[in-house]
Amino acid sequence: MFHLEVGNPTSLKFLEELVGLERATFKKNDSWADGELEQMSKKRNSIIVAARLVPDGKLCGYVLCTSTGLNVHVSKIAVRAEYRRQGIAKRLMQAVLRTAATQRRSCSSTLHVALDNEPAVQLYRSLGYKEDGLLEDYYIPGRHAYKMICDLEPYKGAAEGGLALAAINGKK
Ligand SMILES: CC(C)(COP(=O)(O)OP(=O)(O)OC[C@H]1O[C@@H](n2cnc3c(N)ncnc32)[C@H](O)[C@@H]1OP(=O)(O)O)[C@@H](O)C(=O)NCCC(=O)NCCS
Repeated sequence: MFHLEVGNPTSLKFLEELVGLERATFKKNDSWADGELEQMSKKRNSIIVAARLVPDGKLCGYVLCTSTGLNVHVSKIAVRAEYRRQGIAKRLMQAVLRTAATQRRSCSSTLHVALDNEPAVQLYRSLGYKEDGLLEDYYIPGRHAYKMICDLEPYKGAAEGGLALAAINGKK
């Protein structure tokens, strides 16, 4: 069982939890643990959704996006390794897309993903994202990325409780 929280870190403890998960998930070159995550999370146009285990509240996943006018760009998503394939990332993404579509009136969502990151590519496709170009050598020479885009029309008005999307219960 897990529940979702929408909102940027307001406490040092929350930020430390995010940084800990970031460090545990990404290799140094791809990690935002050394300051970037803190910087991004303080921006007014950032949207963060965190997944916490019930009942102990342990952080098991998060997604971070940036809302820029009509578009919301997904920058990071991570689920703790031992809790993967339980639908957590899908629920995180659905929550952020619904929040962007209803609260920020976003029409589209974009992201970049490494071609060889099969779990992430499949996750995004399952949410309605489509390939929208190839970014050659995007990460390092030889490591390319897909640009992906998703139409948010199906996510409009779909948030439980409308704008009051403070917590959604999830289970598996
Ligand atoms: C990508 C990631 C966030 C997916 O998290 P998750 O909670 O395991 O994903 P979900 O359980 O919600 O999976 C939803 C769908 O995504 C796809 N998917 C997820 N993991 C997959 C895998 N290992 N192989 C193939 N498809 C996968 C499936 O379509 C899945 O639906 P299904 O379980 O009904 O088949 C997780 O693997 C992760 O944290 N990876 C490391 C960080 C990362 O690469 N982030 C993305 C780049 S920023």
